[in-house]
Amino acid sequence: MKKTTVYDCSIIELDKHHHVKGNITVVENGKTVPFQVRRSYYLYDVPGGESRGGHAHKDLKQLIIAASGSFDVTLDDGKIKRTFKLNRPYQGLLVVPGIWRELDDFSSGSVCLVLASMKYEENDYIRDYNEFLKLKFDE
Ligand code: TYD
Repeated sequence: MKKTTVYDCSIIELDKHHHVKGNITVVENGKTVPFQVRRSYYLYDVPGGESRGGHAHKDLKQLIIAASGSFDVTLDDGKIKRTFKLNRPYQGLLVVPGIWRELDDFSSGSVCLVLASMKYEENDYIRDYNEFLKLKFDE
């Protein structure tokens, strides 16, 4: 498991084109994100009080964007936790591999857009926190 820390994760400012008729934000491979986007998905209609995530990835890199509304992302490297409130569609949170994440406090109508570096692979997930700690520190 990668020996990454929460300090390897950061907010990336995305390209924002302001227009009186509405704004547009562009994300381009090799330009805005430090990985090739191979998959994108979005969470929506998350019931109030619900939390998502609760896992880590072995190799997957992600950019998490509050495309609409707001939510909190808490990152945990096994030693340090950092919580980011995402509420701007022109900012993305880069999450590197080997980091446990929880998403909660979704505002009503919020949309969590995720750009990911790999196709979906259940084998890349670590869904048990104790196993995460073991893989993070015992190898
Ligand atoms: P998961 O990543 O565990 O959700 P979250 O982190 O948002 O709580 O995904 C939930 C389920 O959705 C998972 O069991 C399988 C399915 N899924 C796919 O089939 N493909 C995907 O690309 C993703 C992200 C999830």
